[in-house]
Amino acid sequence: MSGRVLVTAALPYANGSIHLGHLLEAIQTDVYVRARRLAGDDVIFMWAADTHGTPIELRARKEGITPEALIERAHAEHAAVFRDFGIGSDIYYTTHSEETRRHAERIFAAMRDAGHIHTRVTTQLYCPNDQMFLPDRFVRGQCPKCGALDQYGDSCEVCGSTYAPSELKDPHCSICGTTPVPRDSEHLFVALAEHEAFLRGWLRAPEAGGRTRLQPTVRNYVMRWVEDGLRDWDISRDPPYFGFAIPGYEGKKFFYVWFDAPVGYIGATEKWCGEHGRDMNEYWRGDAEIVHVIGKDIVYFHTLFWPAMLHAAGYTTPARVQVHGWLTVNGEKMSKSRGTFILGRTYLEHLPADYLRYYFAAKLGGEQDDIDLSMEDFAARVNAELVNKAANLASRCVKFVHQRLGATLGAPAADAAPLLERARARLAEVPGLYREFESARALRLAIEIAEDFNVYVTEAAPWKLATSDPERARAVCSAAIEAGKIVAAILKPVLPGWAEKTERMLRLPAPLDFVNAGDPLPAGHEIDAYETLAERLDPAKLAAIVEASKATLGGGATVEAAAPAHEYEVEPLAAETTIDGFKGVDLRVGVVQSCVRVKRSDKLLQLGVDLGPLGTRTIFSGIALSYSPEQLVGKRVVVFANLKPRKMAGGVSEGMILAAGASDDAITVLELDPRSRPGDRIS
Ligand code: MSP
Ligand code: ZN
Repeated sequence: MSGRVLVTAALPYANGSIHLGHLLEAIQTDVYVRARRLAGDDVIFMWAADTHGTPIELRARKEGITPEALIERAHAEHAAVFRDFGIGSDIYYTTHSEETRRHAERIFAAMRDAGHIHTRVTTQLYCPNDQMFLPDRFVRGQCPKCGALDQYGDSCEVCGSTYAPSELKDPHCSICGTTPVPRDSEHLFVALAEHEAFLRGWLRAPEAGGRTRLQPTVRNYVMRWVEDGLRDWDISRDPPYFGFAIPGYEGKKFFYVWFDAPVGYIGATEKWCGEHGRDMNEYWRGDAEIVHVIGKDIVYFHTLFWPAMLHAAGYTTPARVQVHGWLTVNGEKMSKSRGTFILGRTYLEHLPADYLRYYFAAKLGGEQDDIDLSMEDFAARVNAELVNKAANLASRCVKFVHQRLGATLGAPAADAAPLLERARARLAEVPGLYREFESARALRLAIEIAEDFNVYVTEAAPWKLATSDPERARAVCSAAIEAGKIVAAILKPVLPGWAEKTERMLRLPAPLDFVNAGDPLPAGHEIDAYETLAERLDPAKLAAIVEASKATLGGGATVEAAAPAHEYEVEPLAAETTIDGFKGVDLRVGVVQSCVRVKRSDKLLQLGVDLGPLGTRTIFSGIALSYSPEQLVGKRVVVFANLKPRKMAGGVSEGMILAAGASDDAITVLELDPRSRPGDRIS
């Protein structure tokens, strides 16, 4: 090992803004990088915006600008948000760069020359109006299994079945509404199975130093994918596509965005090395330790495709892929209608970055559990831990010594020695914890030190001794200030500003690190005035963030923020229609009278819905992951009443109830005012 470490976070898509989910990852990565630097490692943090693909192409078209202009705007916006959250990456580059193109071409050439690229004609749906092949999620139609209308080209949200877009009944292009036609096109595939032996070895072998390359749970499910058989990977896309042309297919084929996206890690490194007189081969051709931090939705790309690509072209493969869980807000998937789809910029308009850095780091561990940002818990923890414990310790002692004891420290009180000993022992655990992404446990230690010393100071009550026994008061406060210094060092990767203030007010001879924080300051050392380390988080600010994040949509409908589907992120509108298009749909007020789960189905509920004079209908609805039957009984819902009855789940569904949601477990059923009467028409 050269001792060089290269760390990345996943490259955020340039077709969207930075939200708190991205920030969870950016903060986790930043804390890891800062902690390893503090522990003396030689670390660089390389990342970029991910700029290619169909959604960027379409969005630019819709805005009437070039994709280049779109990604430039997004890049600047992303970079500013990350800067304002204190993310200290060495570079935030772009995948649309010559460096990335060159390395993508090189990897492709190496794979082609070794015979790993196969071409094959595939049939896909093509929109003759938009003149493009439609990614699965840009085709909508009737589910071939259950008959539900307006389903995506790859899966049905009502019955949960998956299928090929060509199987959809009555398919239409979701951009323009035209009926697409099947069309043949030649595609390039990476034969992943040809890399199976390498991948098995890579997945099994630990990183040098005996550490794990993947978290055990992650390794288990990746191994299951391998056991299930590695399928060929289609790396080509037809124009129009914003991306890099595939060499030999100029004008005809582009690299699929996921082929060049991770190459952006290398492109960013080359750019940074060029600007800093370093040799990128020391990272990507040498024995550097490469660490990727990613979310759990993109594991496949980083643990199968990516190592195979690197290996095939002789680049250094990752030493570690660290997977974090999903961010939820108040226990649920982030939602625009609930105001919990919070953009980084919106947050910053109300609160300082440090609170969020602290909260995320205080919740993140080495496992890939989902992380919940509960607004109540957020305020409570920041106030109880950061303000009332950590800041309070420094504030009461530094102020007291500075104002009442001539700003001079003494030898720490002897009765505090065991506590200081314990604090130093905790400090010694900290680098190892951060090294394993256990920031929650590291911060816990800092708070425990603060707790111990707050109790100690309260009992010793130095303010009562200022005149009677000033030396005892000085000794007590000096011990507490030592502890505060250790706390600041542990907090430093998370709250660098806190550590800097501590360095200034204590006039420390050198910037704090995990080692020197344990060295006591000499008796007679002079300190400066207290600088505010943290202020109380006002919960009203959180309410304001939620309010500002609410996207009110016409008609009171709720639309959930979609988890990124890796073909695209913007949900295109259905084809335009007139008021007559709506007249064919008869919507009625219904009251749910009964509701039971459907046997052998996770998703379906069977409802009995009272439509007043129109009688009671049996309706099947795919909302069982979002509602229990009891929650629905009594609700006034919107019923699509003249929907042709269809056979489902061993019965007949005589209508549909209106609901919206980004995923099966985040659906909201539209509800009506209790004064509405069953059977009333809705228009
Ligand atoms: N562009 C790809 C990554 C390419 S890496 C070579 C991508 N972009 S993304 O913008 O959709 O997501 C970027 C990162 O943010 C991913 O690691 C993703 O898992 C993470 N997150 C996005 N939303 C998230 C949450 N709600 N919660 C936690 N992480 C989330 O994927
Ligand atoms: Zn179309």
